[in-house]
Amino acid sequence: MSFDLIVKGGILPDGRAADIAVSGGTIAAIEPSIQAEAGRIVDASDCLVAPPFVDPHFHMDATLSYGIPRINASGTLLEGIALWGELKPLLTHEAVKERALAYCDWAVSMGLLAIRTHVDTCDDRLLAVEALLEVKRDVAPYIDLQLVAFPQDGLYRDRTARANTIRALDMGVDVVGGIPHFERTMADGTRSVTDLCEIAATRGLMVDMHCDETDDPLSRHIEQLAYETQRLGLQGRVAGSHLSSMHSMDNYYVSKLLPLIAEAQVAAIPNPLINIMLQGRHDTFPKRRGMTRVKEMLAHGIRVGFGQDCVLDPWYSLGTADMLDVAFMGLHVAQMSHPDEMRKCFDMVTVESAAIMGLDHYGLEIGKAASLVVLDAANPVEALRLRAERLCVVAKGKVVAERERRDTSLSIAGRPGTINRRHKLPD
Ligand code: FE2
Repeated sequence: MSFDLIVKGGILPDGRAADIAVSGGTIAAIEPSIQAEAGRIVDASDCLVAPPFVDPHFHMDATLSYGIPRINASGTLLEGIALWGELKPLLTHEAVKERALAYCDWAVSMGLLAIRTHVDTCDDRLLAVEALLEVKRDVAPYIDLQLVAFPQDGLYRDRTARANTIRALDMGVDVVGGIPHFERTMADGTRSVTDLCEIAATRGLMVDMHCDETDDPLSRHIEQLAYETQRLGLQGRVAGSHLSSMHSMDNYYVSKLLPLIAEAQVAAIPNPLINIMLQGRHDTFPKRRGMTRVKEMLAHGIRVGFGQDCVLDPWYSLGTADMLDVAFMGLHVAQMSHPDEMRKCFDMVTVESAAIMGLDHYGLEIGKAASLVVLDAANPVEALRLRAERLCVVAKGKVVAERERRDTSLSIAGRPGTINRRHKLPD
């Protein structure tokens, strides 16, 4: 028996020691020890072998544009949107594509192999849509890129947004997006949710809306999103991104809302780095965190996936395509410090987000796509603590990124040997 690739000696996220054999781009065997020939052996001894990272919320049309044509001086969401409006007429097909492909290289190097990106449809040229559809085709051998038609300036607030959003869907964009809290009135926001969910239901598409990304506790479009999901039979295919207003909502109202979201099987996608950075900007002190109620949602059985949202763009001046950074921030902001909760945070940037994106071929199981990441950590919690190095990344059966172990190459002046930041916890 001969395989294309065997990843040997790794530790799976559930703690099992396992070798993983790959044939024809899919996982052929997972066993404690596989003794067979292979075209390539990857040594994963004492390392976590996890399914690849998944980012369920990103803006690839804006990424790596930081400083063009200027930086966001106030740091607010609204100035970011205004700044993006200044940048949009300056975009070229080539520049969008070049930045997106550069970002995809960063992503691969960090073991991030599935990304749902929103793409702005408020541009009559639909230049970014065309560019990202090309990027999606180009990176398909190693990244699952899913596009969301996103009317950034408002489905109704922008005169041609609705027509352009539908054109984008006709061109092959995968998911229906929206931004109800940015419409001119609450009523328009509500109407946009209904309209967009109906468009999705007619076309058999998923929905992922920027929903209530505001500190205004009266922004309640998630209620309508859950209602339309039920009415149109879209259960399990709808996500509400951000849901920041829930942080500020009245507790009694939330006690009614959470069961409705759970019943509709609407998933939630908080974006911890961006929420903590952009929300609460109008507050003095105490200053709100602006991230939605993650622990409470999980307690109600609502699926939650953490997204990155932005890297070096009009809204956020940092970022490295590292979903461990995202989970690390989410863990802190949501105060998820119990080992089970930390482990859940790892799941929220891997398996939970893959489920939100509907990735059927994802996961470390026989017959699934052979995509995985070898991390310099013993388990998911240690991976979070260390923001562990990605030592080897395999995408659809091929090794696409490799690096040396950092700690073993670092020595401290005046001390013999090397340092090791791994730490075995008591059983
Ligand atoms: Fe976003």
